[in-house]
Amino acid sequence: MRTIEHVGEMQVWSEDHRRRGRSLVLVPTMGSLHEGHLSLVREGRKRGDLLVVSIFVNPTQFGLEEDFGSYPRCLGRDRRLLGKEKVDVIFHPSVEEIYPEGNETPVKVGRLGGLLCGASRPDHFPGVATVVAKLFNMVRPHSAVFGLKDYQQVLVVRRMVSDLKLNVEIVACPTVRERDGLAVSSRNDYLSSAERKAALCLHRALTKAEELVRCGVKDKGRIVGEAMVEISREPLVQLDYFELCDPESLESVDKVQSKVLLALAAWVGKARLIDNTILQG
Ligand code: PAJ
Repeated sequence: MRTIEHVGEMQVWSEDHRRRGRSLVLVPTMGSLHEGHLSLVREGRKRGDLLVVSIFVNPTQFGLEEDFGSYPRCLGRDRRLLGKEKVDVIFHPSVEEIYPEGNETPVKVGRLGGLLCGASRPDHFPGVATVVAKLFNMVRPHSAVFGLKDYQQVLVVRRMVSDLKLNVEIVACPTVRERDGLAVSSRNDYLSSAERKAALCLHRALTKAEELVRCGVKDKGRIVGEAMVEISREPLVQLDYFELCDPESLESVDKVQSKVLLALAAWVGKARLIDNTILQG
């Protein structure tokens, strides 16, 4: 397994393998790897000849008050985990490699990036789109693997790939959860044991909504109302949003007809956690 830190070296490596007819897969991450990331790596391994995992904590997708500085970084451990997964290259550029002095051409994101998480984090999706576009141009993958835990991120990236004709297949993988249902996340490490317990209400709320829909309830008011009771009972959890929406456009819906996305974000202590499920009406 090779570690590449420089953009030029990454591009030469990719072009060389592309010319030889090899298919390249990229799994973009910010490191601090967990089972969620590793599920993407395993999917990526099956989908191409050569697998690149990028590790880059992207400053432009964090707001000024957010946790860029304290975001966990543990390259040694990440490298050991990726070594076991037969990864070919770890791409680990510095901030200066990705955003050299004088760079001034970000990717702008439209309506999709302003809804849900974008409402309280307006710079987040432009930052994600910009870094993903750069990574695609540096690694030149045929396909890239993302997790559905960040459902909106998958939609924003797919939209960008289509709009900018980037010619990368976007593969989306299901959310990996802890045994008790909490979605695995690097930010779960910020939780105290009391907060960790309280955070389970997020999964309980999604499960409650799924149950109601299975029993034939279609009305948004009732589904959201009953599911949100689970969250409002937990004083350690502050809800940011809890939305029923169309799974493609993310526009709000009033009824569960065919497929609907139920997405939420909440603060638990200093961790902002997100989760979602697809309800099948
Ligand atoms: P990061 O939070 O490190 O996540 C990297 C990838 O892992 C994302 O596609 C994310 O959806 C996926 N992932 C995280 N937790 C998961 C879980 N429990 N189950 C399944 N997949 C999970 O997302 C980012 O980094 C960044 O925004 C990035 C795309 C790398 C751009 O900077």
